[in-house]
Amino acid sequence: MTAHHSGRWLRWPSGEERIGYGADYNPEQWPKEIWAEDVREMRRAGVNIVSLAIFSWARLQPRPEEWDFGWLDEIMDLLHEHGIAVDLATATASPPPWLSTIHPEILPVDHEGRTLWPGARQHWRPTSPVFRSHALRLVRALAERYGRHPALAAWHVSNELGCHNVYDYSDDAARAFRTWLRERYGSVAELNRAWATTFWSQGYGEWDEILPPRLAASYANPTQQLDFKRFSSDALKEHLRAERDLLRELTPDIPITTNFMVMGETKGMDYADWAAEVDFVANDHYLLAGPQSREELSFSANLTGSLAGGRPWFLMEHSTSAVNWQPINLAKRPGDLARDSLTHVAYGADAVCFFQWRQSAAGAEMYHSAMVPHAGTDSAVFRSVVELGATLRALAPVAGTRRRPARVAIVFDWDSWWAAELDSHPTSRLRYRQEALDWYTALLEAGVRADVVGVREAFEGYSLVVAPILHVVPQELADRLAGFVAGGGHLVTTYFSGIVDEHGHAWLGGYPGALRELLGLRIEEFGPLPDGAEVELDLGVRGSLWTDRIDLADPDVKVVAGYTTGEQVGRPAITTRLAGTGSASYVSTRLGPGGLAPVLEHLLAVSGVRPEHGLGGRVELAVRTGADADYWFLINRTDDPVELDGIDGEVLIGGPVLGPRQVTVLRRAR
Ligand code: GAL
Repeated sequence: MTAHHSGRWLRWPSGEERIGYGADYNPEQWPKEIWAEDVREMRRAGVNIVSLAIFSWARLQPRPEEWDFGWLDEIMDLLHEHGIAVDLATATASPPPWLSTIHPEILPVDHEGRTLWPGARQHWRPTSPVFRSHALRLVRALAERYGRHPALAAWHVSNELGCHNVYDYSDDAARAFRTWLRERYGSVAELNRAWATTFWSQGYGEWDEILPPRLAASYANPTQQLDFKRFSSDALKEHLRAERDLLRELTPDIPITTNFMVMGETKGMDYADWAAEVDFVANDHYLLAGPQSREELSFSANLTGSLAGGRPWFLMEHSTSAVNWQPINLAKRPGDLARDSLTHVAYGADAVCFFQWRQSAAGAEMYHSAMVPHAGTDSAVFRSVVELGATLRALAPVAGTRRRPARVAIVFDWDSWWAAELDSHPTSRLRYRQEALDWYTALLEAGVRADVVGVREAFEGYSLVVAPILHVVPQELADRLAGFVAGGGHLVTTYFSGIVDEHGHAWLGGYPGALRELLGLRIEEFGPLPDGAEVELDLGVRGSLWTDRIDLADPDVKVVAGYTTGEQVGRPAITTRLAGTGSASYVSTRLGPGGLAPVLEHLLAVSGVRPEHGLGGRVELAVRTGADADYWFLINRTDDPVELDGIDGEVLIGGPVLGPRQVTVLRRAR
């Protein structure tokens, strides 16, 4: 159902199957004398690919009509001589000062009308025709010069598109937004209907009257806000396509990617919609401080695997140790570097790369870890880097294998993420991704494997589908979910699901709107909770954030748990409607990973899903599958050793006892 990328993988110069290993390499930050040492140490570490030229525009084109490729020629040749492949960036991520000086109209504008000035990076409007033409000129120059270079393994379009410039409210953006709206709605009358502009006297007469949701006197129209988010994701996607199309024309044999940011609260880009645009999916992931940081890593890697259609993907960046952009930047503990990398491999990464090769001595990221830290190669970090290189070599048989689908899916939907967290709602505290992550964490704790999948994926192969806060439910999706349940599938959803259609209009007749019949419930009013307030359920768990006043509307609905305190005392909190051999369940409050445990126990029993190993939540399992064998990645989630009793297979890495935070990979012939 979802369109996936072409599946063309890196063009390895030697053609052999292996796991890629490397980093962003920024040789222009260093004197030339260091380059030979760099390449020698890369070889020692097992590095076989680097990303080059990501922020090199000012160096490659120091003036509008002046080009300097000499240094890049030299470094490309040097890397090739040493058997290191290159993922060559198009270098368009950060425009040089001359460009923004001559053309200040490329600079983005925030929603308060403030210009984002040069001095950092990514100061360009996704919709600026001036920026686009300069960027494409650079792309053409690079493609013509390096398209046949033997080191070239892939093109890397821009860098982290939308990291800093996803929302631009400039006049260029306003013009492009109108064009986008015209395509979507066809007429102003249709737009007026979709945006419900009868409210607050917003009826538009002409396209030119329509603006991005700039700073306003009160809450902006919610559909305007939602459409602006969709448009902004599309505008960057258009930029990706423009660079890609030119590269495809000039170098049709070279695969093309761009690095996504499936991580944490980075939510501006609908990657489920972008994935089909690249030849293979690449992702950047950084650990975020907090109690679920490793679960979040796993969740992101898992979702990235789904975006890649279960095929291998490229981990373009993560960190060897601390980053420099959180309030407090913790160093990784021994073992973390390998475990974090291997968790990505477990979920399909066939390349493991870092930001960056050599830690910068100056500049905004000088305190960000790298493969070669400030301390040099005589350091614990570099020794771990060398060790990981050897580990990845031992995992070569895994390269090219695919995900073995799980029996449980968690549905992830950008539209629902965007719409559920808009302003002017019952609560501003709701966090879409956190709820999904809580379910994922609870499944990990139960020792049950799950796939995190996009909402457009087919649900039919799964026994249990978890769709947390599925807020935007167009009729088509409601039908698909009903079909899944009618076919014997088990669905569970939560508070604030099924509420609106694709235009953000409430489904009338009672909540949960589009899912009311499927769930067999009717809710007349939401009961969000104040900060700190909790309610108790007769399952012995506590809820927070939200409750609903639930009326059962179908004789086949069973109450799984009820409220024992709070406004809804004595009323249902969790319900299940049995429908033939399938079921549709509803959880009306936020339970967190611990509180979800007994709920999951019930749902897993109903759907007949059992863990694939007996080690419970201590060990995370991910499975990749090849022509004649499965590869079991067993990841110790604890700080204690765990014996892998009763799990057999040929050891590729690790061993029968998992040390703290260690990973064992077993090859299990089929
Ligand atoms: C990414 C970016 C890299 C570097 C890294 C630091 O957002 O692509 O260039 O800034 O973060 O964590």
